[in-house]
Amino acid sequence: MTRPVTIAPSILSADFGKLADEIRSIDAAGADWIHCDVMDGHFVPNITFGAPVIKSVRGASKKIFDVHLMIAPADPYLADFAAAGADIITVHAEASPHLDRSLQAIRALGKKAGVSLNPSTPESVIEYVLDRLDLVLLMTVNPGFGGQSFIAPVVEKIRRVKALVGSRPIDIEVDGGVTPETAPLVVEAGANVLVAGSAVFKGGSQESYAKNIAAIRKAAESA
Ligand code: DX5
Ligand code: ZN
Repeated sequence: MTRPVTIAPSILSADFGKLADEIRSIDAAGADWIHCDVMDGHFVPNITFGAPVIKSVRGASKKIFDVHLMIAPADPYLADFAAAGADIITVHAEASPHLDRSLQAIRALGKKAGVSLNPSTPESVIEYVLDRLDLVLLMTVNPGFGGQSFIAPVVEKIRRVKALVGSRPIDIEVDGGVTPETAPLVVEAGANVLVAGSAVFKGGSQESYAKNIAAIRKAAESA
């Protein structure tokens, strides 16, 4: 099954001083999903925001809020992110010793369940939870910061995940260093959701966001 290309700008690269306005701008500029990077300074070496911030900006867009949890532990906070308005909640396999339990908990909250894998984590960790998954998020940078370089060997992992997923209705999302140059590589390998932070927010205006999103989409659809 071929899924349409979905562009999910990461608000990590937005101006946090006007976050709701930034979300309204990327919504109007053609974003499909709003990607929220939650970092705890423990699982990853950076701290961003938590459920209260997501809750306060949730009204700025009706689009899907795709919440990427880079926190350990994650389980105690899943209900807070669900209540804040997340539509998809993704946990890291490396941060969740009981991945099967975490995925069940997310679905029990009525949300779509995702798992994220760091660049060095093999795809085999998802083999026994495939039927609990709505999304697999493959990191193409080491999580923690925007603006890093794309780690190319992950492209082969996208292919392997695509094969593992088979005909299941699971999105394959790629996050880190996505640009008009790298987008065709990941889509050709089987990804259908592209997260982009710095490549979307460069320029700092709705007009530039629209151009940036269109350029990524065009490159991805040419794959
Ligand atoms: C990194 C985050 C990414 C990040 C991507 O830990 O998960 O979503 O914002 O940023 P760029 O697109 O700038 O690599
Ligand atoms: Zn992310």
